[in-house]
Amino acid sequence: MKSHPLLALIISIIFSLIAFMSPTEGYKVWIHNKLESGTWAGVDAVTEDGKKITSNWSFSHKGFHLTIPDDTGLYYLHFGLISFEDVKTRGPFTNDQDACWHFHGNVFKWEVYTC
Ligand SMILES: *[C@@H]1O[C@H](CO)[C@@H](O)[C@H](O)[C@H]1NC(C)=O
Repeated sequence: MKSHPLLALIISIIFSLIAFMSPTEGYKVWIHNKLESGTWAGVDAVTEDGKKITSNWSFSHKGFHLTIPDDTGLYYLHFGLISFEDVKTRGPFTNDQDACWHFHGNVFKWEVYTC
């Protein structure tokens, strides 16, 4: 039996829609920068063996997010201000859900909290 070309097209469209809708995007780490107005803050996501996965940053009071790819198992977060001289490391985290953190304080005294 020869398959109908239109049917083949419809099936391929359905398959690409399924692929498009499935969550292949990775989990997100949402960061709120609640530091003193205009303060730069950045976050690096790092693997267990210290390789950088991704990073992002903002000036307060803008927020930002990191996307942790699906193939990442455990990861650490490095929170830093300006030069990352004083880095706060949190983790390890398992890459199985979205996360949310916020920066509080000013350049001299700051802290990070989960939401
Ligand atoms: C950084 O965060 C902003 C705001 O959430 C977002 O639009 C942008 O895509 C992020 N960049 C990366 C590399 O994740």
